[in-house]
Amino acid sequence: MIIAVDGPTASGKGTIAKALAAHFGLPHLDTGLLYRAVGWQVQDKGGNPDNLQDAMAGCDFAGSLLDEDSLRSEQVGGLASRVSVHPAVRQALYERQRAFALQPGGAVLDGRDIGTVIAPEAVVKLYVTASVQERARRRWLELQGRGIETALAAIERDIAARDARDMGRADAPLHAASDALVIDTTHFSRDQAIEAAIEAVEERL
Ligand code: C5P
Repeated sequence: MIIAVDGPTASGKGTIAKALAAHFGLPHLDTGLLYRAVGWQVQDKGGNPDNLQDAMAGCDFAGSLLDEDSLRSEQVGGLASRVSVHPAVRQALYERQRAFALQPGGAVLDGRDIGTVIAPEAVVKLYVTASVQERARRRWLELQGRGIETALAAIERDIAARDARDMGRADAPLHAASDALVIDTTHFSRDQAIEAAIEAVEERL
């Protein structure tokens, strides 16, 4: 059983994917971490994420995901979004994601193109979204909680820019698969969003 969870940044897709994996006893892969690891590597080597050669060199991260905390920053998210535009980078990360999806017992993967490219045969496809304003508010609260002061308007601008890049790229742009169930979490609490997702999966099984 493959469960594909796609959606834009701060939509709640990661939280939902993790909860589904725990509920159904499946392994979970946050595919954004792979792109973040590439972006981080490019930066570490003083490269330019928009340059194909530099981005490809960043793919050579020996399969290690580094430490998750250093990959989770807004800044690394922006770099990930820039390196992920290159089709060759997406290709370099394809096999690893595909192999994870094809584990005998099934898997939950979350990202941008799981239901459309990585595992189009997934039994359940969810597209998790929320308004830009609500996503910015959540990110702002999260940063506040970590003691990081940022202007809400700046976060909203960053999220809108990331959406535009992820949805506008030529290769594997972010969009809901035609057979995906859309869950809009704008007016949902964390628990309500998880409940809606579990119900959606159970209905499809
Ligand atoms: O989900 P997360 O915010 O960690 O992803 C960081 C960036 O990696 C996204 O903005 C997107 O550009 C890229 N990404 C992607 N395809 C995926 C997962 C992430 O292009 N499956």
